[in-house]
Amino acid sequence: MALGDIYGADRLIPVKSAQIAGVSYKTIGDAGLEWISDLKGKAVIPAALNPMGMDRDAWQGMRIDAHFAQKQEEIIKAYERLGIKAECTCTPYYLERPKFGDHLAWSESSAVCYANSVLGARTNREGGPSALAAALIGKTANYGLHVRENRYPTVTIKVKEPIHGAEYGALGYVVGPKVGDGIPIFTFKSTPTEDELKHLGAALAASGAVALFHVLGVTPEQYILPPERIDVDSRDLEEGWQVPTRYFLPKDSIDVGLDAVKALMRKHEEPDIIALGCPHASKEELEEILRDLKGRNVRKEVWVCTGRSLGEKNPALIDKLRSHGIKVVYDTCMVVSPAANHFKRMMVNSGKALKYTPSMCGVDAVIGTTEECIEEACR
Ligand code: F3S
Repeated sequence: MALGDIYGADRLIPVKSAQIAGVSYKTIGDAGLEWISDLKGKAVIPAALNPMGMDRDAWQGMRIDAHFAQKQEEIIKAYERLGIKAECTCTPYYLERPKFGDHLAWSESSAVCYANSVLGARTNREGGPSALAAALIGKTANYGLHVRENRYPTVTIKVKEPIHGAEYGALGYVVGPKVGDGIPIFTFKSTPTEDELKHLGAALAASGAVALFHVLGVTPEQYILPPERIDVDSRDLEEGWQVPTRYFLPKDSIDVGLDAVKALMRKHEEPDIIALGCPHASKEELEEILRDLKGRNVRKEVWVCTGRSLGEKNPALIDKLRSHGIKVVYDTCMVVSPAANHFKRMMVNSGKALKYTPSMCGVDAVIGTTEECIEEACR
């Protein structure tokens, strides 16, 4: 209600699900634990959590100390008492894929970007407390990205050369600060996969404050007419995906060459850990890692972070990765777990992890493609 008043919302609207950040003891500490423990109520819609600070079952193997593990467990139990599922992932769309036009209350920034941009669902970038409030009443205030008029692109980003894989994340890292909290529409010479869009959005949200982006001819929400003619346009938009014959592109436009992206990816000082799965890896990304291993065992510490449900649905794939020496880690990630603090330099395939691991974990970070990360791991 308070947020609705601040942002001029006309009413509360029902939401299909909530995803709640503020879970790792590393980030919320005792004050956060106390606040959650004092709340009363029960979630009335499906609600899941962001990654916590450890693998709930295998924390000892991550060199997590017993005090941290106990506090983390108390946080999860406090959420469970509120009817929130202890499914801790930043890719809740692999649990249940929201539909075009669904209203949500999600808080993890990469998940928000994916839901809005790749799926055409509608969510603001909620804080942990407001997502939790939405879980308890099944509603959120109708403002921001819930309102179609606010979802128009504000800046065109023309990418002049084809790119692939981790380059999308590196591009997001470079472009994010230029866009801030705007809504970019990209024109690409290549067609990104959903995983590539996931990495682009995660990095845009981390290095800028992007919560929605469009890709011309690719993402499901395309604008045919400029905002001032939105009434004429509205019927088409409500009907969901279509392939219009012309598009609305903002005049404010940035041309992006790939020099900065390539320079970022050339920085390859030797890492002592390789961490993949930021955002949590999809089944396709796990398969790609297995292919890149080419039957070899890794010779360095390698973590692959993914959601527990996704892992448990694909036991053979997880066993194979583990048989090559990879640590598949559930419930947590390299940024929100204190386990990453034990290392000096981390190699990642994610623009978001590149942005956050230095400040959140005190490690240097370098970025490469998934294939380069695995080569480094086997060297
Ligand atoms: Fe997810 Fe952690 Fe990255 S929460 S998006 S894996 S920083």
